[in-house]
Amino acid sequence: MYFIANWKMFGSIKSVNSLNKVISYSKTNKLKAKIIYCPPYTLIKSFVDKTKNSNIKIGAQDCHTQIKYGPFTGAISSKMIKDLGGKFVIIGHSETRAENDNKKINLKIKSALDEKLNVILCIGEKLIDKRKNKTKYVLKKQLLEGLKNLKNLNKKVIIAYEPVWSIGTGIIPSENDLKKNIRFIRNILKISKKFTKSKILYGGSVNPKNIKNLMRIDNIDGFLIGGSSTNEKIFIDIMKKSIN
Ligand code: 13P
Repeated sequence: MYFIANWKMFGSIKSVNSLNKVISYSKTNKLKAKIIYCPPYTLIKSFVDKTKNSNIKIGAQDCHTQIKYGPFTGAISSKMIKDLGGKFVIIGHSETRAENDNKKINLKIKSALDEKLNVILCIGEKLIDKRKNKTKYVLKKQLLEGLKNLKNLNKKVIIAYEPVWSIGTGIIPSENDLKKNIRFIRNILKISKKFTKSKILYGGSVNPKNIKNLMRIDNIDGFLIGGSSTNEKIFIDIMKKSIN
């Protein structure tokens, strides 16, 4: 089970201390959870240093389409993330999709894989897509265009299904819809003969109250967690409740 913390634009240099309890928990937990933190770029190095004697891995929340260096003011490349000790990168999060079409997302994934980073590709429908019954259409397009012409690096790409209407709203999909959509994603990956072994995560308003219900959905390999991951007690509570 993956528990990936997406800190978005939160955290200060002092936040590194908030990892203490999670580091201790990661050494004792029975679940053998894979814990990954994706803090803002400014904190990657201090998070990498802090977690170096633990199983916790660190990632970034985005990267540029270019592999190495270039005249792109304000941008960070996959190579730079790797240089800092990052092992993962979130690509295509809905909060970044306004500036990123599927083509750009595809180039970003390529640049990350070329640097041997693990990719967390986020896909998900907006509320309007859901209302118009276009969820499957959106998921298929985001998957196929995002993964187009990539080498089959099965385990290097994790898919995070994050319905946009569920992010930060406290609302999660019904058990039935979630099962159905995860199964649909798995089928698309199978049909395209690509990334058939990819893990599929759920993201959107995961919290200690709904984790037990979410754990009942047996085709989910883990969770991408926003708000609830920035508080170590709540994050640990989620992981604990996922086993009990
Ligand atoms: P919340 O858990 O705050 O809803 O955010 C989900 C998310 O966007 C994780 O990438």
